[in-house]
Amino acid sequence: MTTEPAAERTEGDYVLVLNGPNLNLLGAREPGVYGSTTLAEIVADLKAIALSADPPLEIEHVQSNHEGHLVDALQTLGPNAAGIIINPGALTHYSIALRDALAAVGTAAIEVHLSNIHAREEFRHHSVVAPVALGQIAGLGPDGYRLALHYLMARCQRSPGAN
Ligand code: DQA
Repeated sequence: MTTEPAAERTEGDYVLVLNGPNLNLLGAREPGVYGSTTLAEIVADLKAIALSADPPLEIEHVQSNHEGHLVDALQTLGPNAAGIIINPGALTHYSIALRDALAAVGTAAIEVHLSNIHAREEFRHHSVVAPVALGQIAGLGPDGYRLALHYLMARCQRSPGAN
């Protein structure tokens, strides 16, 4: 599944949510590790939370199994976003291209992982994205996305216009 972003967006009126490879399979994929909530359910939840912001925010969601598509989405939708929530999936552990795109865009980004990557296989312990993210939430399941959004909403209220 690749969700195409809306063609036009006004600066700062949306949060960009990016999900990397295999996250389209949530709900069916290793439920013991990733839970039973689908990606569509997570995104619907985020949309409802974002609408409750004052002023309301939209969610632009892009899921892709392709690194370049995620880089393109960051370049086109990242600069004007009020914030970015990114679960890069396996790309977390090796995609310098994604890290460089995040750094180039410069918009406040929260890295989210459903599972606690630090408690899993050693190759998952390292994130090449973490140094260019504002923070990381790992191991809290879908709540991680919600918490990241609440944080970004509070941050917008504190300093409107900052991203
Ligand atoms: C993940 C953790 C990654 O190590 C893994 O490759 C994923 C999902 C998570 O959300 O827990 O695809 O990012």
